[in-house]
Amino acid sequence: MSRLEAKDVITGYGKHEVVHGVSLEAAAGAITCIFGPNGCGKSTFLKAVAGALPAWEGSVRLGDREISNRPVHEVVREGLVMMPQGGGAFPRLTVMENLRMGGHAIADARLVESRIEALLAEYPSLARRTGVAAGSLSGGEQMMLALARALVSEPRFILLDEPSAGLSPALVGETLERVRELTRRGIGILMVEQNIREALPIADKIYILTAGEKRFEGTPADVRDDAQLMSIYMGG
Ligand SMILES: Nc1ncnc2c1ncn2[C@@H]1O[C@H](COP(=O)(O)OP(=O)(O)O)[C@@H](O)[C@H]1O
Ligand SMILES: [Mg+2]
Repeated sequence: MSRLEAKDVITGYGKHEVVHGVSLEAAAGAITCIFGPNGCGKSTFLKAVAGALPAWEGSVRLGDREISNRPVHEVVREGLVMMPQGGGAFPRLTVMENLRMGGHAIADARLVESRIEALLAEYPSLARRTGVAAGSLSGGEQMMLALARALVSEPRFILLDEPSAGLSPALVGETLERVRELTRRGIGILMVEQNIREALPIADKIYILTAGEKRFEGTPADVRDDAQLMSIYMGG
């Protein structure tokens, strides 16, 4: 079983250091959640893990392979994809074109088409809308598209940045249930979530970041409720 391991990752923008040496481990087939206040560096950390931002120091390993500071398409080939906040769909491209973007790191176009066909069988609401612009989908459908697009490369790990953001309460539950379902196929999930109440019950492991540093590491059983998490945010 492979695992994703970040060690002492330091990164930021320009000269501005945002993440000050964060270490984390995520297991295959499990959901690892990162919580923390707005602006504490959660998205920045995820981007460094996914290769979308250089790690200034530290390492990121997937199984026994070093993946930090490698181009994103290589990281995807190693088996790790990131879904950015908001899903990252190209609104003017069709659903089908967006799904094909998910296969950009795969040279064999016929393989990409057959994977998309299989995914559409699992996501019937997308299958009915392959020819429409992604921007015209509802929020829930866009999230399904983002998940399906991430799956085209058949990743071992998926990084999700706030998958439930902006969704109605009913869709939050449905989206997180979809995420849980992916772990049953052995996919590892590393997820940033603001929706602590909904995310805690499905998390296997949690981390709390504040001001670019790891403040807490444990299991959901270690925290009583989201009020206690909030107090950890505040330095409790
Ligand atoms: N593209 C960027 N350029 C410069 N600074 C950024 C950029 N993105 C985020 N930041 C800054 O980095 C810090 C952490 O942001 P972010 O990682 O998005 O936080 P979070 O995801 O925890 O809300 C914030 O101070 C933010 O202003
Ligand atoms: Mg963020």
